[in-house]
Amino acid sequence: IIFLNKTKKPQKLLMKLFSLIVIHSQRQLLWIHTFLSLCSSLFFLRVQFELWDSDDPIPRQELLKKVKGCDGLLCVLTEKIDAEVLNAAGPNLKVLSTMSVGFDHLSLGELKKRGIRVGYTPEVLTDAVAELTIALLLATSRRLIEATHEAKTGGWGTWRTLWLCGYELADSTVGIFGLGRIGVAIAERLKPFKVKKFIYTDVAPRPELAAAIQAEYVSMDELARQSDFLAVCCALTPETQGICNKNLFSKMKNTSIFINTSRGGVVNQEDLYEALSTGQIAGAGLDVTVPEPLPTNHPLFTLKNCVILPHIASASYTTRNAMSALAANNLLAGLRGEPMPKELQL
Ligand code: GLV
Repeated sequence: IIFLNKTKKPQKLLMKLFSLIVIHSQRQLLWIHTFLSLCSSLFFLRVQFELWDSDDPIPRQELLKKVKGCDGLLCVLTEKIDAEVLNAAGPNLKVLSTMSVGFDHLSLGELKKRGIRVGYTPEVLTDAVAELTIALLLATSRRLIEATHEAKTGGWGTWRTLWLCGYELADSTVGIFGLGRIGVAIAERLKPFKVKKFIYTDVAPRPELAAAIQAEYVSMDELARQSDFLAVCCALTPETQGICNKNLFSKMKNTSIFINTSRGGVVNQEDLYEALSTGQIAGAGLDVTVPEPLPTNHPLFTLKNCVILPHIASASYTTRNAMSALAANNLLAGLRGEPMPKELQL
């Protein structure tokens, strides 16, 4: 989280930013890069900024206090930016930049009403998210977590014919729910695994994107019925909230694998638990849940056929570096009144 205030004290700022660079050079390169690019621009813009210098989310009360009077705010997806925060910021706030491709943590209506411009970070994370989705899909379908556990804890006896058998991609049908850049990138990576057919559904056909992967547009019901692997890649919106529910799972094959690397809110977790525990579907791999973190005593953690990751799809050094630089540049462009590199059209 970075709070920005315009000021006319470049000397003081320079000292401050050098100390920030020194502090951060002892940490991840990710942050040095961001701060070098951000700080040099901030110097020329003559802005004063304050950093929430922790990997842990800023406490809400602290955010409400510090945001007061700011011109710009750079946040991550753990911060809910709603009317309360915007009221606390007051009329100075002109730009909000989120270091995420998802924007369901932002109250877009409230931002629009106040004329606040919004930057986000699409594209730079597509490769990392697609890669992680493949890893999660294979870990789930080939039961890798169960397998390593068995190997480590003495469950590995003699070679057995059907022990730890899973499902393979070759000759399969892969369904994509929400075809955007990430869905296409997932399909491109899956193709060499000899997938037979890609199908997808969305609010409307997306022929240009679909052509790149020869994917066929189908209804949601058909997607559920035909998919051997169903990957959810849609944004969380009021329309997609809880859309992966009993109705969807009941139409899926009992040999199907369900994968979600979008947002936990898209899935009805009680219905998913039911589908997994009764064998209605074969397995699920989730990188996102509600809430996050998912409590360790959550029923989904008791299931062997459910692989849960702690929201790490974009977590590669390269991608987080690119996301932070893009978020910083969005913020600065917004403050200068220029087009942002990646601006959300509200
Ligand atoms: C990650 O989930 C993001 O929205 O960037």
